[in-house]
Amino acid sequence: MSSRSFPKGFLWGAATAAHQVEGNNLNNDFWQLEHAAAEHGVQFSGDAVDSYHRYQEDMRLLADAGLNAYRFSIEWSRIEPSPGKFSKAQLAHYRRMIDEAERLGVKPVVTLHHFTHPIWFGETGAWLGKGAVEAFSRYVEQACTILDGVEWVCTINEPNVLAVNHGQLRRVAEGKEYQRVGALPDTEIGEALIAAHRAAAPLVREATGAKVGWTVANQALVPVPGSESKHAEVQHIWEDMYLEPARDDDFVGVQSYTSQLVDENGIVPHPEHPDNTIMGWAYRPDALGIAVRHTHDVVGDVPIVVTENGIATSDDQRRIAYTGEALRHLRDAMDDGIDVHGYLHWSLLDNFEWGRWDPTFGLIAVDRETFERHPKPSLAWLGDIARANAI
Ligand code: BGC
Repeated sequence: MSSRSFPKGFLWGAATAAHQVEGNNLNNDFWQLEHAAAEHGVQFSGDAVDSYHRYQEDMRLLADAGLNAYRFSIEWSRIEPSPGKFSKAQLAHYRRMIDEAERLGVKPVVTLHHFTHPIWFGETGAWLGKGAVEAFSRYVEQACTILDGVEWVCTINEPNVLAVNHGQLRRVAEGKEYQRVGALPDTEIGEALIAAHRAAAPLVREATGAKVGWTVANQALVPVPGSESKHAEVQHIWEDMYLEPARDDDFVGVQSYTSQLVDENGIVPHPEHPDNTIMGWAYRPDALGIAVRHTHDVVGDVPIVVTENGIATSDDQRRIAYTGEALRHLRDAMDDGIDVHGYLHWSLLDNFEWGRWDPTFGLIAVDRETFERHPKPSLAWLGDIARANAI
């Protein structure tokens, strides 16, 4: 194996999340929030990119390009529209997605929770509500009934970002100010998510035999000289407390986009710069290497899958440049002995970026009037890497 090739069976794919692509998830908390916050300029998910009906085309484009894995999430609010009442039809829908992936020779990587929950779960206090872990476990048990043959299952996506977002809502509900910059995860919500993951992971493992893990947002935090102790404190609250439970898992998902400095006041906001992405994030393809190495430092020998990495840009050549460089940093980390099993690009499709439509992360553009898919050159480029299994 030349140093720039990847191990046999390496997962090369792309990722999406239900609420960002399906459309009309009327029964979840984010739909509710979009409507409640409309006056602040928050946009609606609406039909999203209608992947609920067009998933076959989406997966076919991915497979035809040469990719061999598709990470998608199943939507709790569709599967359990009211507490304890499960929709057999919706479960069958997600089973058809899994079957379709398998038919195309694509490995499904299934996320059970990607940021959204049913409205009823929010009404019972969401993750801090009494019985949250039991409610999530009950849903997970039902989800397991359709996961036969799936090898990779993520329980909860980015619990740390979820704890930032729900922490903000909690602050506002308590009459405190919304923190525009530098908000950290709410540790109490984080602990509740850890409990939910610890309850769900063994259920999935026993029912399906899949490799089970969760996916953590890695901010590739770097200390400003002299701020090492603040850096250690922030890094623990931001990501390490979510990586530590992954030591008991079959794999951990690394999600990386950018890197940030930490000074004595905490995380330093991204300075304005012409190279910043549409998200306003610093252009840092090297972040992936930092994130993978840091994750390895915390989890030890637990296998890693890059479950998200990408860039919001309208210039597809820039997406190719960013991703090519990120992959070189990933390969360097692997050369140093870190066990990485896959790279899943965020995202397969331009999609609903949680209240905004302008950040385009996709390998495929979508006409939001006709839902026509337009693959970008980056899709074929990544597919060629997948076919060669080398950079
Ligand atoms: C999330 C995705 C999101 C992406 C880009 C991650 O935080 O898992 O849902 O679209 O980053 O912001």
